[in-house]
This record gives sequence, structure tokens and C-alpha cells, in this order.
Amino acid sequence: MLSKSTFVPNLPPHPFFEGMFEVLSEKTPLALRGKWLDAGCGTGRHTRFLARLGLMVTGVDYSESELMEADRLTAGTPEASRVSFDRQSLSLLTYSDGYFDGVICNEVLHAVPRSEHQITLASLQRVTKPGGIHLVTGYVTERSRGHSNHLYPYELRNFYIKAGWPIVSEFHGKPHAEVCGETVVQRAQSGVIALRP
Ligand SMILES: C[S@@+](CC[C@H](N)C(=O)[O-])C[C@H]1O[C@@H](n2cnc3c(N)ncnc32)[C@H](O)[C@@H]1O
Repeated sequence: MLSKSTFVPNLPPHPFFEGMFEVLSEKTPLALRGKWLDAGCGTGRHTRFLARLGLMVTGVDYSESELMEADRLTAGTPEASRVSFDRQSLSLLTYSDGYFDGVICNEVLHAVPRSEHQITLASLQRVTKPGGIHLVTGYVTERSRGHSNHLYPYELRNFYIKAGWPIVSEFHGKPHAEVCGETVVQRAQSGVIALRP
């Protein structure tokens, strides 16, 4: 039986994401074309946001219930013809190398085991065209007090630097207390915009 979606449906874009996207639009306006991937799209708030800008967007998630809700929220909207949803695991994407012009991945990595962060980001990199752009966010905590899947400070940017991708911009939110599972953790959002060489 399908589990009920854990997300409040039809949220607007996340403010941290929106702020980053504004910078992306200013710094790399030519990147805003073609096919984009919303990796770990949930109910598709950012998939629809990108499609409203005229991009062709594929939202990928491994949760059937999230995707059903995403489909329901998208049907009948003006941007629906530019949106598709696909059930896949991010570490095993079946798209060809360089298929997408851009990839967003917002608030997903904390749901991926730390041991799979690298393979997941490498999979997103593989499906990105040379000259294509990534906007990725994640939560950073002090590991001793936090959730075991959270990033270390600067881990995201270091991953891109190691892979040889220039960083266009990076972002660090203010630490704040949040309930995460059964504990309250002090965590902060962090994000990078990076360019495939
Ligand atoms: C916190 S939600 C964020 C949803 C959306 N990106 C947003 O900003 O509203 C994380 C989503 O990532 C999906 N997810 C986590 N790990 C995944 C994986 N390995 N492959 C595909 N989807 C994954 C979950 O099912 C969930 O819908």
C-alpha cells in the first residue's frame, strides 16, 4: 500500500533555493535553456517553478506517493506540458551522459546515506552537459550533535572542486534548531552553484 505523502502539498519555492536561483539567473543567464532535472523532486514545487520559466523539466524521485502527488498538482497548470515525472533512484539514473542542461537538487542529500553522497552527486554530474549548471543544497550540522546523513561544512563545494567543476557561487544559511527524526538538531542550509567544465 502507498504511504501518504509526508510533505505539505503545493508549497511555493523554498526561499533559500529561490535566493540561489536568482544568483544563478544573474551570473549564468545562458544556462537557462533546454532540459533540466529536478533531482529528488518530491511533490514538484521546483519542477513547476522551472517550467514556468519556459524550461523543459523532468522531476525524478524514488517515492511513488510523492510522484503521484506531483502529477496531481501539475495536471491542468499552464506549465504542465513542459513537465514530466519519472520514478528513479538518483544514484542509478538511466539518462544518457550529458542529457540535461541543468540540474537542481534541493534538500535531498540528508535523505541519502552519507556513504552514497558521492555516488549520487557523481550520477547527477554524469547526466549533465559540458557547460551545464548544478544548483545543489544540503543541510550541514555538527556531526557529533546532528543527523548522520548531514554534510560537513564545505563538503559540498569540496566535492565539486575535486571533480574539477568551477564553483559559480556558494551559500551558507544561519544555523537554526530543527526537529529531525527524534532529536532536535542545530543545522544550517548550504548550497553551491557549479558549472560542468
Ligand atoms: C525533503 S524532500 C525535498 C523535495 C524537493 N526537492 C523540494 O525541495 O521540495 C527529499 C526528496 O528526495 C527524495 N529522495 C531521497 N533520496 C532519493 C534517491 N536516492 N533517489 C530518488 N529520490 C530520493 C525523497 O523521496 C523526497 O521526495
